[in-house]
Amino acid sequence: MATEMALVKPISKFSSTSSTPIFSNSRYGKFATVRMSSTSQPTTKTASKGGKKAAKTAIKETLLTPRFYTTDFDEMEALFNTEINKNLNQSEFEALLQEFKTDYNQTHFVRNKEFKEAADKIDGPLRQIFVEFLERSCTAEFSGFLLYKELGRRLKKTNPVVAEIFSLMSRDEARHAGFLNKGLSDFNLALDLGFLTKARKYTFFKPKFIFYATYLSEKIGYWRYITIYRHLKENPEYQCYPIFKYFENWCQDENRHGDFFSALLKAQPQFLNDWKAKLWSRFFCLSVYVTMYLNDCQRTAFYEGIGLDTKEFDMHVIIETNRTTARIFPAVLDVENPEFKRRLDKMVEINEQLLAVGETEDIPLVKNLKRIPLIAALASELLATYLMPPVESGSVDFAEFEPRLVY
Ligand SMILES: [Fe+2]
Ligand SMILES: [Fe+2]
Repeated sequence: MATEMALVKPISKFSSTSSTPIFSNSRYGKFATVRMSSTSQPTTKTASKGGKKAAKTAIKETLLTPRFYTTDFDEMEALFNTEINKNLNQSEFEALLQEFKTDYNQTHFVRNKEFKEAADKIDGPLRQIFVEFLERSCTAEFSGFLLYKELGRRLKKTNPVVAEIFSLMSRDEARHAGFLNKGLSDFNLALDLGFLTKARKYTFFKPKFIFYATYLSEKIGYWRYITIYRHLKENPEYQCYPIFKYFENWCQDENRHGDFFSALLKAQPQFLNDWKAKLWSRFFCLSVYVTMYLNDCQRTAFYEGIGLDTKEFDMHVIIETNRTTARIFPAVLDVENPEFKRRLDKMVEINEQLLAVGETEDIPLVKNLKRIPLIAALASELLATYLMPPVESGSVDFAEFEPRLVY
């Protein structure tokens, strides 16, 4: 998984979103281990480890932070039981498995001394926002690793081919997360992944929702990485940290992961062929696109720092992801209708007002009262966007589907 995805449903939680810098010690700490806590209060403590002081920072978790997922593994087993499900095209999964076994990126993630040198040159507010980018990306990749690893383990007996693909995808995600975590070490930080595994709250999704959500996460991740890569290739003056040079091959991992979920969805036509599937498809598209847009608009300094216009970048990613998704989902949002972007921008405004309420000196009761009309306005924008006339899609000819590289 390459990107964060959060449900926009429990809107009241937006109130806990904070723009407070989460790495207050990132520049000055000797070496800091960053932890993500599931509590709403950030805490910082200093611990002594092997004679060296390590500052351990707990990060505030909000609705917009990357999620960790868990699912109904028994239902998953039933879905991938070839005796129960006759739609499982084992030869297609065998072909995908060969792709994953080839391991195109086995030797890709090798660092060099450019990393540390570049990190030392990143200064000012950009440094903080850069660290946050690495930390969020690492968390998102790591969440994919955990989910895929568990699926690989649980499906071993029922469907060894599908199980092995999951295990190989967890290999990829572990590599991605590890590479990002090494990047954090250039900034004298490290994510405590063991702690993350235990301390984070896991969001439960039924298998079909895992399929929709992870498919979108992988494809949107692909489009984010390739767009940044292409932009920096054309504008090398913004190439301030070498990690972006790795995105071209990296994003092909995400693309393959997405294609695997596409094959999984095809093997479960009940998730694609009725009115409920259409409603859920649109819902997940909305959740993923809005979450990314609101998140990125809170971090424009990062995108501007690498020479991108945040909103333009996001709209490009959303449109391309939506076009890709339309090949498999039975319905998608009409993101190319100007009304869609207008509504997204309105949501950004409301979200900014919500954030501003959180930063006032008011007592909690007053803050909550101020939030009510804003939350109502956000909910109505979300609903109006959801109810925009959708694009009927999913015309992909299932029989012709083959895994392939997309550039
Ligand atoms: Fe990844
Ligand atoms: Fe992935």
